[in-house]
Amino acid sequence: MLKIHYLTCSKPLLCLTFAAKYTYMSNRTFTMIKPDATSKGHTGAILDQILKAGFSIKAMKWIQLTEKQAGLFYDIHRERPFFQELVDFMSSGPIVAAVLEKENAVADFRTLIGATNPAQAEEGTIRKRFAASIGENAVHGSDSDENALIEADFFFSKLERY
Ligand code: CMP
Repeated sequence: MLKIHYLTCSKPLLCLTFAAKYTYMSNRTFTMIKPDATSKGHTGAILDQILKAGFSIKAMKWIQLTEKQAGLFYDIHRERPFFQELVDFMSSGPIVAAVLEKENAVADFRTLIGATNPAQAEEGTIRKRFAASIGENAVHGSDSDENALIEADFFFSKLERY
């Protein structure tokens, strides 16, 4: 029997694999610099702000999503009224996808980017500086460790991260 935190596990190998996978992501988050920001030439300034905030880049790629890929990435929002608008926008131009590392990465990154709606974002946050609207809001940041891992897996193989 193996104990991981409060869990008691009858299959140690399986549980260790699970724990390693999730522990691995706990100081990491996933981000995309969205098509509005890349097309306006804000990529460098946004990356600069991310690095100055203490994040390090563990994986990165410049890529244009197809409509199908954008729909799959945002599948959780499929029933929302803005889903098609979101898919059209996210496949309209290139994005930068990246895995970032820092202690408390998910929460600290969400603080750095500010509220989803830039009108409600704090002064100095990435969305306040670079985003125009709730739909075209310059950057994405994962909302949990679990989603950070799922989203990183969507874009990157193990070989493409370090
Ligand atoms: P993001 O953090 O990438 O996660 C889901 C995205 O859906 C969000 O940023 C916004 O860009 C978008 N979104 C959320 N709410 C709305 C809305 N009311 N209208 C249009 N887009 C939205």
